[in-house]
Amino acid sequence: MRKVDVYFLALASPCLVFSVMLGLGMGIARDFSLTHMHSHLNLVGWTSLALFGLTYRAYPVLAENRLAKIHFLISAPSGILFPAGLYFLIAHDQPALAVAAAMVWLTGAALFCATLVRFALAKNPA
Ligand code: HEM
Ligand code: HEM
Repeated sequence: MRKVDVYFLALASPCLVFSVMLGLGMGIARDFSLTHMHSHLNLVGWTSLALFGLTYRAYPVLAENRLAKIHFLISAPSGILFPAGLYFLIAHDQPALAVAAAMVWLTGAALFCATLVRFALAKNPA
C-alpha cells in the first residue's frame, strides 16, 4: 500500500495531541480517573501506530505487500476505538467497545508480527 507509513504516522500524531491534552487536563483538574485512557491513547494510538509507520518506512518492501493495507485497515480504527472504549468503560461502565476494539487491535498486532517473522525468514528479503 503506497504511503502506508505516512498514513500510520498521520493518524498517530493526533493521538499524541489529544492524549497530551487529556494528560494536561487531568493534571490541572487533579482528576486521574481517565489515566488508562490517556496512557493507551499514547501507547496504542501514538507510539504503536507511529512504530508501525516507521517500520514500513524502514522496510518499504513490507509496505508494498497487500498485508500492509489489511494491517492498516485493522490497526488504525482499533487503535483509536480502544482508547475511546476505555472512556466508555471508565465513565459509563460499558466495556463492550474496549473489549471488541482490543480484540481487533490484537489481530492487527498478530498480523504485523507474522509479516515481520515471514520477512525475517525469507531467503531473499530485499
Ligand atoms: C505533556 C504531556 C503529558 C502530560 C501533561 C501527561 C500527564 C499525565 C498524567 C496527569 C498522568 C496520571 C498520573 C497519575 O495517575 O499518577 C499520566 C499518566 C501516564 N502517562 Fe502521561 N502525560 C503526558 C505525556 C505522555 C506521553 C507522551 C506518554 C507516552 C508516550 C504518556 C504515558 C503515560 C502513561 C503510560 C501513564 C500511566 C503511568 C502510571 O500508571 O503510573 N504520557 N500522564
Ligand atoms: C489493545 C491492547 C491492550 C490492552 C487490552 C491493554 C490492557 C491493559 C490493562 C488491562 C492494563 C491494566 C490497567 C490497570 O492497572 O487497571 C494496562 C496497563 C498498561 N498498559 Fe496496556 N493494554 C493494551 C495495549 C498496550 C500497549 C500496546 C502498550 C505499550 C506500548 C501498553 C502499555 C501499558 C502500560 C504502560 C500500562 C500501565 C499504565 C496504565 O495502567 O494505564 N498497553 N493495559
